[in-house]
Amino acid sequence: MGRAPRPMAHARQVPATHGAPGPPPADDPPPLPRNPSRENVRFMLSCQRNLFSLPEGMHYLNCAYMGPLPKATQAAGVAGVAHKAVPTRIAAADFFAPGERLRALTGQLVNAAPERVALIPAVSYGVALIDHNLPLRRGQNVVIPDEEFPSNVYAWRDRCRRVGAELRLVPRPRDAQHPGLKWNEALLEAIDAQTALVTLTAVHWTDGTLFDLERIGAKARAHDALFVVDGTQSVGALPFDFDALRPDALICAGYKWLLGPYQLGVLVCGDRLLEMEPLEMNWINRRHSEDFARLIDYQDEFQAGARRHDVGERSNPITLPMLIASLEQIAAWGVERIQAYCGELGRALDEALAGSPFIVAPPGERAGHLFGVRLPDPRGIPRVMDTLRAHEVYASLRGTSVRVSPHLYNDAADIEALAAALRASLG
Ligand SMILES: Cc1ncc(COP(=O)(O)O)c(C=O)c1O
Repeated sequence: MGRAPRPMAHARQVPATHGAPGPPPADDPPPLPRNPSRENVRFMLSCQRNLFSLPEGMHYLNCAYMGPLPKATQAAGVAGVAHKAVPTRIAAADFFAPGERLRALTGQLVNAAPERVALIPAVSYGVALIDHNLPLRRGQNVVIPDEEFPSNVYAWRDRCRRVGAELRLVPRPRDAQHPGLKWNEALLEAIDAQTALVTLTAVHWTDGTLFDLERIGAKARAHDALFVVDGTQSVGALPFDFDALRPDALICAGYKWLLGPYQLGVLVCGDRLLEMEPLEMNWINRRHSEDFARLIDYQDEFQAGARRHDVGERSNPITLPMLIASLEQIAAWGVERIQAYCGELGRALDEALAGSPFIVAPPGERAGHLFGVRLPDPRGIPRVMDTLRAHEVYASLRGTSVRVSPHLYNDAADIEALAAALRASLG
């Protein structure tokens, strides 16, 4: 199959950023890219596969598993390795300036002040920080949709057991007409005066069910419960407005929809988190850490804002420039446009599967960039997965659904290949 960029309907190429940005100079940070996300989605993007290194013929519909690195991100990583190879090139400012750039880009991405952004290695780190600070007592409860990602479940299962609190894993309605809508209602009902924490994804990681963060967050706030969102499977591909939704925390791994490297993610902190005690006591999070000669003058105060929660060794000269390059690229594309593009691909799949036994949630109840394909009898799913592999179509089995998660490097040909493989699996 030819892989020249293939325009979607009304396509117009959006200029993308290129090149390998090394760590930005300390006193002259480049301006943030213009952010089309805040404007109307006036035109669709075209397929951006030429900016990635995916092999020809591979139908990679699995960004929810691992985001491929844009070429610009790869180049930034290579430049970072070269930078680290000669330590004399690494100035004190390089420990700080790239982190500030990442805060600014993240703030722009989710509509939050950069001061609220901390750099963390994994979702489990952000969850551990909240676990470390949340006063949870016997008789209280923690509300989570069932089947959430384990990094945001094990900590609460363990903590609830230890203190005698109730873990309310709100089950997915199995056979309802609109399971997504009913699940949201069930979550709202589960929150009460004894709720200490409500935590969930914006988009369920197994099948793209959309959670109503506005209503769920409002109910959590009304009961003074902490409201924590795991944005790993949404931020970067689905708009998120931190200032409007006002969660206590938004936690995101960087290696999926942020198209970044492994081991670098972000934690966006609401006011309560800004006051919390850090999980670890490292040197760079303390006041005046810029002055290396005086690090032995131990400080009680932290750096301002969310910097207190930055993980130790967060000034990674390889991964930080990589995530910065990815966020610049995402900003240049615009998150609304990424979502609109993926939504078009999903609609093409709906059409291609019409009349087949495959079940996909209606567009209003699923994300455009992540959705599950099910069969009435889940015993047929292993055969589906085998057939997808044989057709070089990459998607993941999560629970009982084939999770499909496209991005801008996909086009109509990938959806045709997916639909053909799904139909072929029926025998
Ligand atoms: C919703 C969600 N959260 C978090 C993660 C990753 O968690 P961690 O960063 O703790 O490895 C994943 C990985 O698949 C995920 O799907």
